[in-house]
Amino acid sequence: MKPRHFITLNDLSADELRALIQRAIELKKMRAAGQIHQPLKNKVLGMIFEKSSTRTRISFEAGMTHFGGSALFLSPRDTQLGRGEPLADSARVISSMVDGIMLRTNDHSTVSTFAKHSKVPVINGLTDRFHPCQLLADLQTWFEQRGDIKGKQVCWIGDGNNMCQSYMNAAKLLDFQLSIACPTGYEPEQPLLDSTASHVRLFNDPKLAAQGADLIVTDVWASMGQEQEQQDREKAFEGFCVDASIMALANSDALFMHCLPAHRGEEVSAEVLDGQQSVIWDEAENRLHAQKALLELLMK
Ligand code: CP
Ligand code: NVA
Repeated sequence: MKPRHFITLNDLSADELRALIQRAIELKKMRAAGQIHQPLKNKVLGMIFEKSSTRTRISFEAGMTHFGGSALFLSPRDTQLGRGEPLADSARVISSMVDGIMLRTNDHSTVSTFAKHSKVPVINGLTDRFHPCQLLADLQTWFEQRGDIKGKQVCWIGDGNNMCQSYMNAAKLLDFQLSIACPTGYEPEQPLLDSTASHVRLFNDPKLAAQGADLIVTDVWASMGQEQEQQDREKAFEGFCVDASIMALANSDALFMHCLPAHRGEEVSAEVLDGQQSVIWDEAENRLHAQKALLELLMK
């Protein structure tokens, strides 16, 4: 039987995604009540990280421990992956010994190629194109605070990056409207803009995109791997900082999210990030609960 992978949000149906969010909320309550729940006893999750991580690594590792299983941290620096062993060979070997594999890679194609040759479920823990696990946590946070997101107005301000593109998938799947404000040259991929056109509008001016928003989201201007572009990007993204004047254009009860790590004073002001409308700490914690719901779905 072919394993079930989670490479983008589109690997779930809308109903499955809503059910997963509800399960994440339930798992959070169970943990708060001290309830032991070990559906993955003796199961092992391999975790391959080509890039740094705090939240993704800890949430998957802690989640597997809570579930009675364990997680292995694998760095390409210390495995044969970093010495050129073919991906297909690595996928066959690693997937013969573990029950699930999470990868964080530079190229999206590394995760999809790995999945093609894996005997066990493969989870995308961030690539250059998508970060679907973060969306599970963001959506859980929205549902906890406000209920269903269908019909809501979400505004993305900043780079048309892996997070932005994951929001585009979410908008189409869960039927909310997404206004994206990017500087010219930093827009999301055109084919994705075409396929999500019914739910996504592209702006050049963050003030126009923010109007009437129920949720404002941003992310760093230079993602991992783009550090050498930092200075050019700071110039290109001038005027794209989510500050109090941008939040004032949104609905009065609008929420603010950021996947973290954040740069206060760059893509978001400290006042907004640490302010009343910001739900970033719940959003970060929900990585744990949402991914536990995902692990249960894929690996049980
Ligand atoms: N948001 C997120 O993925 O954080 P890490 O890079 O710390 O895993
Ligand atoms: N867009 C950021 C997200 C980090 C969690 C990056 O790819 O570095």
